[in-house]
Amino acid sequence: MNNPPRVNQTHHGGKVYEAAKKLKCLPSEILDFSANLNHYTPEIKEKDWLKFKDSIFQYPPEENELKELLAHLYQTDPNFIIPTVGAIQALHLACSFFKGKRMLWLEPGFSEYSRIASIEGLEPVPISVELSLSAEEKFQKLVKHSKEGDVILLCIPQNPSGEQLQWSALIPVVEEFSDRNISWILDESFIEMTQSNYQGSLEFLDQFPNLFSCRSLTKNWKIPGLRFGFLSTSNAEMLERSEKNRKQWSISGVTNSWAQTFLNKNLLQKNQTAIARLLLETQSLIKTLEQNFYWKIYPTDTSFFLCELPNPLDALDLSQQLLQKKILLRTYPGDPSLKDRSHLRIGSRTKEQNLLLIEALRETI
Ligand SMILES: Cc1ncc(COP(=O)(O)O)c(C=O)c1O
Repeated sequence: MNNPPRVNQTHHGGKVYEAAKKLKCLPSEILDFSANLNHYTPEIKEKDWLKFKDSIFQYPPEENELKELLAHLYQTDPNFIIPTVGAIQALHLACSFFKGKRMLWLEPGFSEYSRIASIEGLEPVPISVELSLSAEEKFQKLVKHSKEGDVILLCIPQNPSGEQLQWSALIPVVEEFSDRNISWILDESFIEMTQSNYQGSLEFLDQFPNLFSCRSLTKNWKIPGLRFGFLSTSNAEMLERSEKNRKQWSISGVTNSWAQTFLNKNLLQKNQTAIARLLLETQSLIKTLEQNFYWKIYPTDTSFFLCELPNPLDALDLSQQLLQKKILLRTYPGDPSLKDRSHLRIGSRTKEQNLLLIEALRETI
């Protein structure tokens, strides 16, 4: 008998193309719960597609326009903004500033952190924490180890559990450490997919030039294929260096055209309403998984959550079975900090799509 198709999810979710190829179907047929996106975001209208099409045939305008647009939307200084190709490029850029320094972060965390540290020439200092600790307790553990590093990379809200550290816990420590020459890289890729102020740490940048905020627009606006984000800081040396080394046309004309169309107060408000709806559906999905399947779900403040499956359920086997039904889940087979095969992460989708997941689980388990 032929082996059923498997999708390697060792490092990332969102491997829709790989799944579609293996299942011999269209990527659009795959229900991807392994990436965390805002599935209620406003639709792209036909007339907008035509605008994006036109932008393929021109060189993009200077990035100053994008900086102004982002600054206006996020109520910050345009001079503090560096547009990037997703948060991933913002993380690379921020880390490149600290070449040769020691960087601390929490494990389990986003799988790219160690790769970024290695590519940008930083000494990696991952700090392992128990999943059962609260966001504040995990942060306190990191603070205890702060003497071992020069830069602290914090994911707010945390990936993979989705818990958010409160600013009231973080900012006093940033203040206290100001004279210790410690810098903070904040990965706020999912901050807009929480109930907190979408501005996140941007309101503190003026005060702390040792803060570097990495932001993503790919998740909250559901444009992971377009790739858009930014790095924000008031650090004059960093801003000067990045301006000097800026690569021409790194943000595409299509991204620029998308930003001009979508990044306005009216659509932002609609998007925030969409996120509130997504968060409600997330809670409803969590309740069903807890009550009907007896899964343990770690507390989350966003639209994704980490599940611990009851014995003898095997997360890898389950995800492979659901793959046959064209459903993708995020598992952690090679992650040293989530050693056993009982964890998986789910990014909630719309109410109807979540029901399809529940139905598939009922048929499978
Ligand atoms: C915690 C975290 N940071 C950054 C990124 C990269 O975001 P982007 O798609 O904007 O590059 C991801 C992507 O999944 C993520 O999970």
